[in-house]
Amino acid sequence: MKLLIKNATIYSSQGPAKKDVLSENGKITEVSDSISTEADQVIDGEGKYLFPGFIDTQVHFREPGLTHKEDLLTGSQAAALGGVTTFFEMPNTNPSTTTVEAVQQKIESAASKCPTNFAFYIGATGENLEELQKSQGLEGICGIKIFLGSSTGDLLLYESDKLLDIFKNTECIIACHSENEIMLRERIDIKKNAKSAHEHPVWRDEQTAFTSTQRLIGLAKEAGRKVHVLHVTTQEEIEFLKENKDHCTVEVTPQHLTLTAPDCYDRLGTYAQMNPPIREGRHREALWKGVLDGTVDLIGSDHAPHTREEKDQGYPMSPSGMPGVQTIVPLMLGYALEGKITLEDLTKFLCENPAKMYGMNKGFIEAGRDADFTLVDPNSDFEIRDEDQASKVGWTPFNGQKVKGLICSTIVNGVVVAENGKLTGERGGRPVVFKK
Ligand code: DOR
Repeated sequence: MKLLIKNATIYSSQGPAKKDVLSENGKITEVSDSISTEADQVIDGEGKYLFPGFIDTQVHFREPGLTHKEDLLTGSQAAALGGVTTFFEMPNTNPSTTTVEAVQQKIESAASKCPTNFAFYIGATGENLEELQKSQGLEGICGIKIFLGSSTGDLLLYESDKLLDIFKNTECIIACHSENEIMLRERIDIKKNAKSAHEHPVWRDEQTAFTSTQRLIGLAKEAGRKVHVLHVTTQEEIEFLKENKDHCTVEVTPQHLTLTAPDCYDRLGTYAQMNPPIREGRHREALWKGVLDGTVDLIGSDHAPHTREEKDQGYPMSPSGMPGVQTIVPLMLGYALEGKITLEDLTKFLCENPAKMYGMNKGFIEAGRDADFTLVDPNSDFEIRDEDQASKVGWTPFNGQKVKGLICSTIVNGVVVAENGKLTGERGGRPVVFKK
């Protein structure tokens, strides 16, 4: 299968360049000023921007056990429609994914149906160090996930000695949900007595996040390694992490960069409820500062779908989380086209940094790399709408939001899997290979 993309402006962190790109059997074979060769498919990229396929490093696709909310097929379809070519999925399914065998079942299921590439985190329990060690570097396994504070599902591990044991005895990426479990328990009456989702960031307050992250980085220092801090939400953490980049990598979500309290809870109620929570404007501004000054490494959607029925139970019964895999690229591309970040930065956060951090043959449009691409029209506008969401839950907190830029094609291993807002029905997805 030979795919030729002609005359697109291709992007990297080094800037734009107008080039032709040829791929064969899933790999890029040539990038040059003009390629004329027979190909099975030719895409005219004139006037369009071609990015290395966008990588969403944090999604919850709910298979097995919670497939009324999502499954690997619908999650991957939503990813493809949103311009995402590779996703990393989280282990808080039911049962939790805590053995290599359980991850391999997910890989098999994904391989049979996903239009996009995929890899999975294995969850740490405090009792499964051997499984964590065995999982390192395996195809389709991107790293270890640790919930230091409880969230959706039963994964939880906050004891310092057990954390240290894992930190000292593994070398892979360790991605952490950082909230202070002891404080969450001490403050549980705030949640119990709450009348609305406005109380969610009061229960799970700044100190709950900050004290956990301080302890986490202390342990990483003691173990002499880095940890990856997921969905950072506070000014205090960003400033602290900036001073501790030797021991951390940092991820933020588009929703924490977009929504603020109390407005989001006024407008969306429990649909804006997630862990760690959306907070007031000063935190959003600090996250943007972290994006612009290099503190932040990755932007992941934390796609965490729950049904309307579940959300409509009202706070505090409503579960935490919101969908995002289909909106991460439109939102961030919109920010880039408006000039809030550069298009080079967009490529860095969603393509190059994930490729470098995890050791993937992706993230750059150059010969020898995997042929994953997202082609966009920078001159069209686009409205995010509930009815266009492929997620089983059928809603997005960004319903009605207009963004700059339109995703034209999502190409996975040289196969066009989505085009002009529709799935093609083709399947390009493969498990991600990680360099040891
Ligand atoms: O809000 C959240 N929802 N935060 C998490 O950490 C988990 C996620 C989920 O799986 O629902």
